Amino acid sequence: MNSFELNKVIGAVLASCLVLLSVSLISDSIFAPVRPAKPGFKIEAKQETASTAPAAKTETAAPIETRLASADASKGKPETRVCMTCHTLDKNGPNKVGPNLYGVVDRPRASHPGFDYSSAMKAKGGKWTFDELDKFLTHPQGYIPGTKMTFGGIQNPDQRANLIAYLRTLSDNPVPLPKPTTPAAASTAQKQPQQSAQQQSQQSAAKPEAATSLDSLLANADLNRGKSETRICMTCHTLEKNGPNKVGPNLWGVVDRPRASHPGFDYSSAMKAKGGKWTFDELNKFLTHPQGYIPGTKMTFTGIQNTKQRADLIAYLRTQSDNPVPLPKSAASASTNGNTQKPPSQQTSGSAQNRPRPNSGSTQEPPQQNPSQ
Ligand code: HEC
Ligand code: HEC
Repeated sequence: MNSFELNKVIGAVLASCLVLLSVSLISDSIFAPVRPAKPGFKIEAKQETASTAPAAKTETAAPIETRLASADASKGKPETRVCMTCHTLDKNGPNKVGPNLYGVVDRPRASHPGFDYSSAMKAKGGKWTFDELDKFLTHPQGYIPGTKMTFGGIQNPDQRANLIAYLRTLSDNPVPLPKPTTPAAASTAQKQPQQSAQQQSQQSAAKPEAATSLDSLLANADLNRGKSETRICMTCHTLEKNGPNKVGPNLWGVVDRPRASHPGFDYSSAMKAKGGKWTFDELNKFLTHPQGYIPGTKMTFTGIQNTKQRADLIAYLRTQSDNPVPLPKSAASASTNGNTQKPPSQQTSGSAQNRPRPNSGSTQEPPQQNPSQ
């Protein structure tokens, strides 16, 4: 092989490398933009899991396997009363608004004869494992968007576990309970008193953390995002000063306002009975799942599952006041850890300057800006 031929060989090799490189570059440029779509969603769900307040109670709960080990099926039974507005639970019971649930644990999804499932439910596939039931019952429409099950969900993880433990018994042949995931949980699960003590300490440990997290989320809140979150509230509420009551009471100055106190609004007896005032924390709990937090409230709004979204919204509601309540104290220190776009001093000042105004010329103003009532 002379050097000329060698050059040709090397040239050919280099050329094919170039072709490969450009194919991969081109295919990247074709396919890359598609990729972020899905992971983008997943990450949001995980963020939810990571931080958070009452949601923390939900999301940072022990795995369902662990909770089931100490669950009390007899406590789960009364929980099913709400389900029975739409479901029967007995063997061979008829379908009602929802399908009969006898033997639902480990039943393939959307498989009960004679029931007309939503296409969302049919498309989801798989079966009703303990874990799937736990996720679905936390927030049905969040977990299976498009489901026909218009039920807000059960926020308390232990309540869900009790309920699922009871559902498990409704079967000719109940599925065995799952093995707790961690060895520690497995061994304590045998000794029940210890188990529940451990769970309690886990929960009380989780609480302060959750509180800090709301405070720091408030300190770092995106008020513009919070403002756009209120669009959904405005189907039932006005936000501006002296705005009328609609389906719900006017919300101007709601932060730190005594509960059920807006003049001229006919509150539910549940809301009136609850007492206290709308602290940041109370708002956060209520807005996670209104009917879960104040059973019997007239506010038929499912709630906002995303913790950051709730904090943004609450931080914005805070600004809708003649005299905004200072942000929670620990917020200032918490915000120094995060990437603070706004210094805490500016945040707490409540100056009109960093207060977005409803009428600041945004084109996205909801229809409520011309209240009809
Ligand atoms: C307001 C009515 C309503 C309430 C209350 C309700 N459900 Fe449902 N449920 C439905 C409907 C409708 C469906 C069918 C969903 C679909 O096809 O998207 C359903 C579906 C289900 C499924 C899926 C069953 C299958 O065969 O795939 C389960 C599991 C379930 N519900 C459990 C419960 C439990 C447990 C409760 C109480 C905590 C409850 N539901 C409360 C209406 C309701
Ligand atoms: C479907 C209508 C509806 C939607 C949507 C809605 N609300 Fe409400 N809201 C109500 C009703 C009705 C009440 C009165 C509840 C009661 O008396 O039990 C209420 C009460 C409240 C209260 C208690 C106020 C007080 O004076 O005690 C707060 C706070 C609140 N809503 C915030 C919000 C926020 C924030 C949003 C948006 C994320 C929202 N609501 C979305 C209907 C709605």
